[in-house]
Amino acid sequence: MCGIIGVLGNHEVAPLLVESLKRLEYRGYDSAGIATVNGGKLDRRRAVGKLVHLSDLLVHHPLAGHAGIGHTRWATHGAATENNAHPHASGPVTVVHNGIIENFRALREKLAPHGLLPSTDTDTETVAMLCAHYMAGGMDPRAAVQATVADLDGAFALLFLFSGEDDLMIAARKGSPLAIGHGDGEMFVGSDAIALAPMTDQITYLEEGDIAFVTRAGAEIIDACGAPARRAKQRIETQSTVIDKAGHKHFMTKEIHEQPVVMAEALARYAPNGMPVFPDALDFTRFDRVVMVACGTGFYSCLTAKYWFEQIARIPCEVDVASEFRYREPPIAPRTLAIFVSQSGETADTLAALRYATGRADMVLSLVNVGTSSIARESDLALAILAGIEVSVASTKAYTNQLTVLALLALHAARAKGSLDNGALRAHIEDLRAVPDLMRQTLALDSQIAAMAGTLAPAPSVLFLGRGVMFATALEAALKMKELSYIHAEAYASGELKHGPIALIDPSLPVVVIAPHDRLFDKTVSNMQEVMARHGRVHLITDAAGAKSARAGTAGVLELPAAGDLAAPILYALPAQLLAYHTAMAKGTDIDQPRNLAKSVTVE
Ligand code: AGP
Repeated sequence: MCGIIGVLGNHEVAPLLVESLKRLEYRGYDSAGIATVNGGKLDRRRAVGKLVHLSDLLVHHPLAGHAGIGHTRWATHGAATENNAHPHASGPVTVVHNGIIENFRALREKLAPHGLLPSTDTDTETVAMLCAHYMAGGMDPRAAVQATVADLDGAFALLFLFSGEDDLMIAARKGSPLAIGHGDGEMFVGSDAIALAPMTDQITYLEEGDIAFVTRAGAEIIDACGAPARRAKQRIETQSTVIDKAGHKHFMTKEIHEQPVVMAEALARYAPNGMPVFPDALDFTRFDRVVMVACGTGFYSCLTAKYWFEQIARIPCEVDVASEFRYREPPIAPRTLAIFVSQSGETADTLAALRYATGRADMVLSLVNVGTSSIARESDLALAILAGIEVSVASTKAYTNQLTVLALLALHAARAKGSLDNGALRAHIEDLRAVPDLMRQTLALDSQIAAMAGTLAPAPSVLFLGRGVMFATALEAALKMKELSYIHAEAYASGELKHGPIALIDPSLPVVVIAPHDRLFDKTVSNMQEVMARHGRVHLITDAAGAKSARAGTAGVLELPAAGDLAAPILYALPAQLLAYHTAMAKGTDIDQPRNLAKSVTVE
């Protein structure tokens, strides 16, 4: 996801712009650039690759000026080249953009007869050209931006700067977040509070359709109808925006090791006295069914929760990935609770799916890690998963905290539906409360997990197997392996192996079986035997009972501490995360910002 920063300062802004862009690196990018106005003159510096290349360029070709904008680009239209890097410019206009302009080709055709032809492959350049075109026709920057925005289809956050205007930035938001930072005689604009944290903790979030005219004196905001709008100024806890590795080699390992603590925080919030506690509006006597929608790792937490809602609360639960749900346009029956799970709260597909469900479902509930996010703001009710800032692109602590909150929600539903007596309920919650300590014990197995990873790293592909609720864990394990080590990995319900995938089995294909000794374990052992009978190499992740029963013939066994049924998918996520991490380390890939990935995908 692209990162945006803008500064109307009282000092040279180039260093500040680059420092803020560094705080946005976690979003994933492949090029970066800044532009400043100095003595009324606009100028730009852009570079492909990591920010260090832009910094090097600025050493040899510095940019002066007390007003500037900056951008980290995650390529959508056009390869990662200097020419395609933002800021883009046309005439007196320069602009940075996060999102997709869906009608940019039609707009190019509108501009061509005026001799305005693109010089890049990007949709963003068209925005600059259109704004310059309106200014050439006599509009001032404010009117030109309003006319430009009115012509755009798609999702975007835009920040404009103009030659001859060293006390004006114009920000526009439609679908991608933008925040305004208030300084002392200075003003800022950024993609989020993290980018703005070095400059201010006084933040105003723009709403959908807002345009903000920013000068050092402040920000004047108009809404989607062009009417003046007042948006709340809030103080952001600066330590919540602190980004450091706390002595870890990577943000990912830091966040993996934070899981015991943040899970305990979620338990304390939603089960403070050993019973689930949720807002009164979440009264499950109102609902006959649950629909859950998310993307990526969030989807796998929903898939896990499906088993819990159906097996424990006896509530039918449908799950789907957001990119399919929104276009499948499913009928949503009365008395349906629609749940949207998103770490960033800004994923475009999930937000679009939420908007489809709004007005159709009886309640739209979201589970997010960013309380000020678009998904949170557009929900009837948003539950914080309390995982703390998650910087590494690969989601870890957010996943296990999503599972924790969803497990408690399923128990809350079961109590409302009378499908679980208080004794069983308390037993499940005790199982969950034991998990942070079981996580610490599991993290102590790191060297064994690294050894298992060493056998996977040379493989061209890895197959993960799981049964029942652990099938969702196997899917998440495969995603982690793909996105971190770039090794192809897939997951199958182990009972499904014999219906085709078993043709893949041979010694070159490691098979990782994720199976606590639960009521389906013996079925899984049969599937393991099917693999080993064909000279397949099975790595078993299980507990002591499972190891005792099924170690024979395997290529290796990782023995986790015993965990309750509801707790197992949460605990078993840790070896899946560490297996992917160590395999990636063996492969030498970029751990915190894997190639091609963004931390939150705010485009379709
Ligand atoms: C997870 O490791 C990936 N980074 C990705 O699948 C992610 O879960 C997905 O893009 C959804 O993001 P969200 O939770 O912020 O909506």
